[in-house]
Amino acid sequence: AGKALWSGRFKDGMDDSTLEFTSSLDVDSKMAFYDIMGSLAHVRMLKACKIIPAEDADSIVGGLKKLAHQLEEGGLDMDYSLEDVHTNMEVKLTEMIGPAGGKLHTGRSRNDQVATDFKMYLRDAVLNAVEAVNGLIRSLQDVANGNRDVILPGYTHMQHAQPVTLAHHMMAHAFRFGRDADRFLDAFERMNKCPLGSAALAGTTYPIDRKMTSDLLGFRDPTENSMDSVGSRDFVTEIAFDASMVAISLSSLCEELILWNSQEFKYIEMDDRYSTGSSIMPQKKNPDIAELTRGKTGGVIGSLVAMLMTTKGLPLSYNRDLQEDKKPVMDSLKTVTDCARMMAKVVSTIKINESRMLEATNSGFINATDLADYLVTKGVPFREAHGIVGETVRYCIENKISLDNLTLDQFRKFSPLVDSDVFSAIAVKNCVERRDSYGGTSPASTDVEITLSMQDSMRR
Ligand code: ARG
Repeated sequence: AGKALWSGRFKDGMDDSTLEFTSSLDVDSKMAFYDIMGSLAHVRMLKACKIIPAEDADSIVGGLKKLAHQLEEGGLDMDYSLEDVHTNMEVKLTEMIGPAGGKLHTGRSRNDQVATDFKMYLRDAVLNAVEAVNGLIRSLQDVANGNRDVILPGYTHMQHAQPVTLAHHMMAHAFRFGRDADRFLDAFERMNKCPLGSAALAGTTYPIDRKMTSDLLGFRDPTENSMDSVGSRDFVTEIAFDASMVAISLSSLCEELILWNSQEFKYIEMDDRYSTGSSIMPQKKNPDIAELTRGKTGGVIGSLVAMLMTTKGLPLSYNRDLQEDKKPVMDSLKTVTDCARMMAKVVSTIKINESRMLEATNSGFINATDLADYLVTKGVPFREAHGIVGETVRYCIENKISLDNLTLDQFRKFSPLVDSDVFSAIAVKNCVERRDSYGGTSPASTDVEITLSMQDSMRR
């Protein structure tokens, strides 16, 4: 086993089981690239501030660049007994360039180092997730664009409520995902301050330039308080929450698509390329991608709860508990990114069964509100109109007939004000077209929505 960097104070070496138990390498080796970048910024600053000799700094820079290269070429073999990625990198550097490598850690600690590395990792992972969510939003926009006139039942309580266009329905999901993506970007802005130079917890006696390392690493500013910098992980929890919201939005979309894809609904058919079969039932074509995405929501929310529980009640500042912060949110971000990418493909390849949607729309009393609105145009107060239509609907149910199939005489039993223009007033196509309030389902209103959503996508 390699020798720990802090072994000086210890008489005996660590037990192997201690090494294995405390190592975080299996998780934090994913941050190797960011660790090298952080070290490069740090050593350049040490040189500029004349804290270490220029020639040592140059040789450290050379060594770090070589390590970055090796990492890119095919990875670096790391030693689990060296605890974590930070130690591994420093040991490798020193093996490569000699004792000068030992000067890299001047004025810094693994506590500020790990916080910095993790923020850099998360910045990239979050941007990847945003891109994936944006891709899904574009798929939804495409389906909306292509189906501006397709009408299906709009539901509340899973009961037929009012007719809507498929475009309007898809855009409802798109705007929800848009807020999810923006939430990630908000979190990015808030966390984009550099902890490097906070050292172990109290700052350092060396004349370091924190603004310089912050700038080099693309952070907005250095963090303001060294204890907060090494002891807080709210940025991680916030991202775990943001990922949970994406998972919930995905899960809701998937649930609907699974229903729509069923024999009972038959509103859509998922593409063969994004469906799976059964090992026993030859006829089966299953929506497994949507089901798995819905299922993975559990793990993503679990990661949020893990972060909340791990950090609850921790005293300031750094505590080793914080090493448990990485796996949950790394997993969550990968999960929602993968799911969003897959669902973008599922959505963009669904086959829409337009006639089945229309048939469902016409099968009940989805235009009852429009009949009430019609009576209002004839001077009936809305509350009274609501009662009249309610009675009309009850009559239809008792006589197994739909509103559209009533004769004028039958309508007039409930209100003498009904005229022959009632038929066009309750035709579902007209019901949809007339809902042209801002944000409503009419094709004209939906066009505005699609344009706004596309502008949002470009900004993101
Ligand atoms: N591996 C640790 C982590 O992920 C960073 C090292 C800090 N360790 C320490 N004993 N102070 O949080």
